[in-house]
Amino acid sequence: TGAVTLDPGFANTASCSSAITYIDGEAGILRYRGYPIEQLAEQSNFLEVCYLLIYGQLPTAAQYAEFTGKISRHTLLHEDLKRFFDGFPRDAHPMPVLASAVSALSTFYQASLNPFDEPNVDLSTVRLLAKLPTLAAYAYKKSIGQPFLYPDNALGLVENFLRMTFGLPAEQYEPDPDVARALDLLFLLHADHEQNCSTSTVRMVGSAQANLFASVSAGINALFGPLHGGANAAVLDMLEEINTTGVDVAQFVRKVKGQHDGVRLMGFGHRVYRHYDPRATIVKRTADALIARLAPDDPLLGIAKDLEETALSDDYFIERRLYPNVDFYTGLIYRAMGFPTDFFTVLFAIGRLPGWIAHYREMINDPATKIGRPRQVYTGATVRDFTPLGER
Ligand code: CMC
Repeated sequence: TGAVTLDPGFANTASCSSAITYIDGEAGILRYRGYPIEQLAEQSNFLEVCYLLIYGQLPTAAQYAEFTGKISRHTLLHEDLKRFFDGFPRDAHPMPVLASAVSALSTFYQASLNPFDEPNVDLSTVRLLAKLPTLAAYAYKKSIGQPFLYPDNALGLVENFLRMTFGLPAEQYEPDPDVARALDLLFLLHADHEQNCSTSTVRMVGSAQANLFASVSAGINALFGPLHGGANAAVLDMLEEINTTGVDVAQFVRKVKGQHDGVRLMGFGHRVYRHYDPRATIVKRTADALIARLAPDDPLLGIAKDLEETALSDDYFIERRLYPNVDFYTGLIYRAMGFPTDFFTVLFAIGRLPGWIAHYREMINDPATKIGRPRQVYTGATVRDFTPLGER
């Protein structure tokens, strides 16, 4: 079968062609379907970007109304699916709960099993976009022992999600408009990032012609890892540790440089960006504004800024071209909004969902798609003769 080239982490291997997202890591450029992330952050919103990523064009007003209307109508979960949450321990981490619940959607919508049935893939698309925030809010409610709230379809996606998460049945819940706007923006900034670990996982699973729910569930599990989506929670754990142990920032950075116990500066570095992550610039501005209003006394923001400044002027980080990535400041914003640390990666999953869906659909419709099946370089024993158990 000829020679194969070893490429750990596929750092130099393009696994597909894609027309969805463009990144220039040297220049710090990110565009969805050609539109600069800065313009989308300023002028668009999460659901419009979902449409753009999935269907390739910005929607007209009529298309947008139809799309958002369909999503509103599918937010409700089947009553039997609600009971699913009772099977998990009370302190279950919400990411595996979410991945399991998404996987279970295949059992409720068995017509979704054929990935080439276009109307059904479209219906699964709408169902996932509509139901993931409901599933996420229920995972949270379960963890704090509160009853589930039904979605209120008069509200927008983010407001509905905030209400189902933080609202209580007997009380009126008015989402803070600044919080809703900031969360919408964070979802938009996470919406796609080409062949990252979870998206590549979605494509890999989907390349075996698994359905959309199964493929997205696999993506959620990949995202859970601390080097990927789990980094947003790991950053906050790191900042809290610095705060409670009183270790000074310069000392912490020295520890990271020594690579003792594999300690990394979480929220720093990126496989593609060798420059400031353009999303991090926008997130930092949002963090400044929102934390000043909601949590002005949070000592962690000061520690984060100190860490950033120390790292950016340190030779170790300069030589390796390590900059803050999108998740260096997001955890601080989520914390100010009232989300517990365990929930941060779930928020990333809601944001990344349209990207996973867009890539799945692009892959299924691409005639060049083949089942994902990398090769390996074998390093094990050469041939040897078997000895029976009694003779070993
Ligand atoms: N702290 C300290 N050193 C680092 C860090 C860091 N955060 N990131 C990379 N390095 C060092 C690494 O030790 C290596 O040094 P050397 O050449 O001396 O061995 C060099 O920089 C190159 O690192 P790498 O591990 O080969 O880079 P990679 O492209 O394989 O990894 C990464 C990218 C994001 C996994 C890594 O930078 C990292 O672990 N960062 C911390 C976790 C994190 O913030 N992840 C979120 C990424 S953005 C959101 C997302 O898309 O998920």
